[in-house]
Amino acid sequence: PKSPWGRFDPYNNNEDQDKEYVGFATLPNQVHRKSVKKGFDFTLMVAGESGLGKSTLVNSLFLTDLYKDRKLLNAEERITQTVEITKHTVDIEEKGVKLKLTIVDTPGFGDAVNNTECWKSVADYIDQQFEQYFRDESGLNRKNIQDNRVHCCLYFISPFGHGLRPLDVEFMKALHEKVNIVPILAKADTLTPTEVKKKKIKIREEIEQYGIKIYQFPDCDSDEDEDFKQQDHQLKESIPFAVIGSNTVVEAKGKRVRGRLYPWGIVEVENSAHCDFVKLRNMLVRTHMQDLKDVTRETHYENYRAHCIQNMTRMVVKERNRNKLTRESGTDFPLPVVPGVGDETEKLIREKDEEVRHADQQPDSHHHYDHEHESEHYSAHHEPSESESNAGTHTDQRDLSDEAL
Ligand code: GTP
Repeated sequence: PKSPWGRFDPYNNNEDQDKEYVGFATLPNQVHRKSVKKGFDFTLMVAGESGLGKSTLVNSLFLTDLYKDRKLLNAEERITQTVEITKHTVDIEEKGVKLKLTIVDTPGFGDAVNNTECWKSVADYIDQQFEQYFRDESGLNRKNIQDNRVHCCLYFISPFGHGLRPLDVEFMKALHEKVNIVPILAKADTLTPTEVKKKKIKIREEIEQYGIKIYQFPDCDSDEDEDFKQQDHQLKESIPFAVIGSNTVVEAKGKRVRGRLYPWGIVEVENSAHCDFVKLRNMLVRTHMQDLKDVTRETHYENYRAHCIQNMTRMVVKERNRNKLTRESGTDFPLPVVPGVGDETEKLIREKDEEVRHADQQPDSHHHYDHEHESEHYSAHHEPSESESNAGTHTDQRDLSDEAL
């Protein structure tokens, strides 16, 4: 195969070559080896109305039975209604490359009489993963942080409606700033090719009209070849991906394929004349997995982090002012309530407040809380009291607020 670094061969100590090259052309190779050794992870979420085939599709996507722990007779029966957010993790390996794949299956909405805020639990789940990552990243041990942030959300749209339903708009708008949304036109076997085409155009128009920010495929470089540009264009035109899911293998034209058997024929999941399943899988796995992760890290997580730090800074400043006022006037002021701060973050700050309050109440002047000299209280020469030993468990929380300030 053609060497990725042109005429330079990093494993050949050839003097002529050494005169011509320093050797940094091997950097991509070094990165490659390191990342292969470390392995990759990816978290995919599925969301949408109940019964649209979310669980069935994710099970077909990675050629693995995610629901094998459910003790039922066959693969088709194993997929039952999803009633709570469930996380399945599988370690898969292909040609020595390891992928830790996490699928987050969410309960379908639309069954209840009242569907107000049906997106809330899903949005909270995504925030909790960001929060956990933020905590880990701000803690003492930042090595080997487990990244559970959701990199992509396949949002299922019903094939039976006329385009998007109000709930779809509400749901996607509640999530679009938190996660990469990839819209899916579910159960495409129930539509004719013309209907699929029309529905796709209508849904794309509505996504635009309602200002829903779905995942944008990166523009291809101008020096990219025509074939690549054509493929890229086709991919963009495929939105929403029209898919068919199945957990059973059927026989079609003498071959065993994943498909759905009807009295009038067989629909094949992996046949691109029947649906966009392969296009979707290629996009998720072969072409855009890294970009989905990059956008999650650089855009969605950064937004969350900035918002969190802003709120924490505001809270800590208010808290300091409150402490000052309390000390000066002798009256206790209520804790500030900052909307939008995640429960965990708020709890964290409240715990710190308790710590401050506790230290303030100690008659011993050693314990007087002073931000400027905070580190002195935890110096090696000082015998920690029981309360301080407890407070010691909050080390990373202190880091957090100080970083914020
Ligand atoms: P919830 O758990 O309620 O959220 O449902 P879900 O969206 O996960 O749907 P599920 O995968 O449980 O599938 C619901 C039903 O639809 C099952 O009977 C599936 O066999 C069927 N089904 C799944 N995918 C397809 C499809 O592509 N076409 C058709 N016609 N039926 C499908």
